[in-house]
Order: sequence, then structure tokens, then C-alpha cells
Amino acid sequence: MTVDDAIEALSPQALKMIKNNFVIGLGSGRAATVIVKLLSQYIKKNKFFVKAIPTSLQIKIEAEKGGIPIIDADQINHIDLVFDGADQIDVKGNMIKGGGGALLREKILISIAKKVVIVADESKFVKKLDRSVPVEVHPFARNTADKQIREYGGIPHLRLLERGYPFVTENGNIILDCNFGQIQNPKELASKIIGIPGVIEVGIFPKPDIIYKTRKNGKYETIQ
Ligand code: A5P
Repeated sequence: MTVDDAIEALSPQALKMIKNNFVIGLGSGRAATVIVKLLSQYIKKNKFFVKAIPTSLQIKIEAEKGGIPIIDADQINHIDLVFDGADQIDVKGNMIKGGGGALLREKILISIAKKVVIVADESKFVKKLDRSVPVEVHPFARNTADKQIREYGGIPHLRLLERGYPFVTENGNIILDCNFGQIQNPKELASKIIGIPGVIEVGIFPKPDIIYKTRKNGKYETIQ
């Protein structure tokens, strides 16, 4: 049994939230990939017409493989449901996201979605957020944003690819992974960082509507 089995186990409950003609936001990463595969089967079986908005090329390719119709976010003005993963979740449901670099598009979709559903394995759950916070920054502000993040108590590290090249987001920006230690007030920290000129987005997200906590034994828990 694996966490993928747990996602399969929760999928009937999660997917039954979908209605015909829904606009669905697709987050990025491993959990979102498993959901997209199950979503593809579900809409075919139920003969549902949906439109999906992917948050990265990674998940767009998965959606294409599954034959899920895709549109761009700028073609619509509402999203019914978002399925996504998370990198860390605290006891209040605050989340750190952006481990895969898709935080800007994820934040945009989540901010307007009528319902946000997150799937994350048990290892991601903590009392207080303490993982490094991904901050998407315009390359022009690499050093100036670094300096101001340090003034707010963070230690930024430029995200690099395996071979040492800077990671560049699909929006042409860099990521500073910022260590703030244990974060006492995620909302306050996020609003301070987003105020830094050149910061495009911050990987601190508010509590979603539903969290599925998956376990290695194939079971899951629903947190609302
Ligand atoms: C993508 O940038 C992230 O926000 C992902 O949602 C997050 O990293 C979770 O990914 P996994 O499901 O792969 O752990």
C-alpha cells in the first residue's frame, strides 16, 4: 500500500464534487498528477464536459494525456474547484506550496476558486510551518529582494537546478527558498514579503476548504 493507493481510495469522495460543465484548476506535482489520472477516468465514465486550467506544463501534459480539455486562465472568470498538493500544512491549515515552482499560478487559481481541495501525505503535516518558503522574484530584484527578506529574518537561497543553473519559473522568474525557522504568523509574514518590490508571489497559502491527509498504508483522513 502507498499514498497513491490512498489517493485512489479518497477519489470517489473528492471527484463527486465535480458537476457537468465545471471549470477545474489543476495544481502541480505528484499528488495533482494522481488526481488528474483519476479525474480523466471519472469524466469519461460520467460523460462530463469539463474545462481544466493547468498551473504548469508538467500538469498540462498529464491532463493532455488523459484527454482532459484545457483552457487558459485568462479565458474564464471563475473556477469551480481546484485540486492541488502541498509541501507543508500546519494545524490551522496554513500551507507552504511552490516546491515545484508553480506557486504563482496555483495562488491565482486558488484565490478565485469556489472550492479548494488539497491532497497531501502525512509527512507534510506539522504543528507550525518551518519549511523554507518559496518566493518567486523577478530576476532584476534578485539581490534587492534577498536583502529585504533578510531584514524580515529570512535566509534566502537561490533555487538551483541539479547542475547548478538557476531554476527559472514558467513565468521567467527566479525562486528564493527562504528559511524563516518556525513561522509564528504565516499570514503576516506573507503580506510583508509580498510587499517587497520585485516579489511576484509567496508560497504561503491560506487554509483550503478540504484537506485529504493520505497515509502510506493506503488510508486517508478528511480535514475540513
Ligand atoms: C508545486 O509548485 C507545488 O506547490 C506542489 O503543489 C507541492 O510542491 C506539492 O507537490 P507534491 O504533491 O509533489 O508533493
